[in-house]
Amino acid sequence: MPDNPKLNERLALNFAGLRMRSPIGVAPIGMPAGKKAAVTPESHAEILFKHVEAGAGFVYVPGTEYISKEMLEEYRAQSRPRELVKKPSDSRWLKVGRPGHGAEAVYHIVFPATEPPERRLTSYEKWGKVIDILKKKLPRDVPIIGSLMPLAAFPETAVASAKKAIELGVDMIEVNISKGSSPGIAGAVEYYLERDYPLITVGSLVGDHPDLAVKVAAAVVKAVNVPVGVKISPETGFPRLVGLVRDLKAVGVKYIQAFNHSPTVAPPDIYNGGRPRWSFVDGNPFVGTSGEVLRTTLYKDIAAIAKFCPGIDIAAAGGLMAPEHAVEAMMLGARLPQFCTGVLLQGRSLLRNTAEFLVRFMDEQGYRSVDDFIGQGVQYIKPMDHLEMNTDRVIAEVNPARCKGSGVCTDSICVAMVRENGRARIKAEDCSGCGLCVVACPNQAISLRLLA
Ligand SMILES: Cc1cc2nc3c(=O)[nH]c(=O)nc-3n(C[C@H](O)[C@H](O)[C@H](O)COP(=O)(O)O)c2cc1C
Repeated sequence: MPDNPKLNERLALNFAGLRMRSPIGVAPIGMPAGKKAAVTPESHAEILFKHVEAGAGFVYVPGTEYISKEMLEEYRAQSRPRELVKKPSDSRWLKVGRPGHGAEAVYHIVFPATEPPERRLTSYEKWGKVIDILKKKLPRDVPIIGSLMPLAAFPETAVASAKKAIELGVDMIEVNISKGSSPGIAGAVEYYLERDYPLITVGSLVGDHPDLAVKVAAAVVKAVNVPVGVKISPETGFPRLVGLVRDLKAVGVKYIQAFNHSPTVAPPDIYNGGRPRWSFVDGNPFVGTSGEVLRTTLYKDIAAIAKFCPGIDIAAAGGLMAPEHAVEAMMLGARLPQFCTGVLLQGRSLLRNTAEFLVRFMDEQGYRSVDDFIGQGVQYIKPMDHLEMNTDRVIAEVNPARCKGSGVCTDSICVAMVRENGRARIKAEDCSGCGLCVVACPNQAISLRLLA
């Protein structure tokens, strides 16, 4: 594994008690794309190694879940019956967005939305082989994070999986109670409202009940001696997530991963009678969405945790698509900015570019280590009613050379902007300096000026 000592030395940090050569990496991805039979432990490990070669400071193995025959019988007897009507055995992708008209979203039906629990009797074996290969080649400062999901809301099923993952060699556990495609399964609404689940993974349907989430996490923390993190859902929302994170911290959770993909519905095909836009799929279920659209929610969640739950580490995924996004997330308090959809749509050059960008950025800005700027923006997260807005001291100014008379600024809700001789003019006495016209102008012809 080729090392780049210069990068590693500058970017190294501690996360949840472990040393990592770099804060960046790829968020968990259940399975590589392609037919399952074609995914061997060797080819899977190779994909993860390539992430590390490109700059990742950690790798995820999502799938080390385990259950014994006895437990399977015991918990099946205690859980709600469920027939597997149709078992999805694949994933399907869709990308929708109009450049310049808001963020672009990626929608995915993710396999396995409803994997039968029997798979856990043996599925860990394949992951064990992946971990064996990783262990032989990975540098010490690139830990393996085992990501796992409970069955239904039974903490014991998460505990058994965590113990197995540690036996297989992972360095850290992440409890995933946030899978965004779970709301898309048959019966989801009743399961959630009745808090009564079948013996499958139900992701955010459990994680969105803070008491259940904390119970699962507390059991895992108690049962293992490696750092434990919890991956939350964007659905948890603010300020509910503050309560959840505080409770998770109180039971010994060392970090929060914010967050998983978000449940949504892909837009229907409006020129085809509202049918799904997926080719070869006969319905439009609730699915997970990821990428660009998640970033605004992510920043809110990171900032909320950093501001209101100090003392717990944060890993962040959700719409980070550029090197600058990694830094923004870090300044808001994230210690591990993670790419997922960014790497899927741009390739690993996103990792390589980000590692190099970080070092350049740190040199230019005079930061010696990443700890110098992690959380730097949190001090500015203030209540709105404590802000000095400089009301009446700022007004908009039109640059006549740039104004092309588009009329956008005079054609919505502003009382200060008028159209004269085909161009925009500001009535200074009526301008509050709000900046709407600056944001709306398609020609960057308007700016704000602070009055003397
Ligand atoms: C194809 C795909 C598979 C995923 N598999 C997992 C998984 O197995 N475990 C998990 O915790 N998150 C999984 N996720 C969620 C991502 O790790 C990440 O949290 C989410 O996609 C938000 O980041 P992004 O907007 O950069 O994609 C998956 C996401 C995608 C797109």
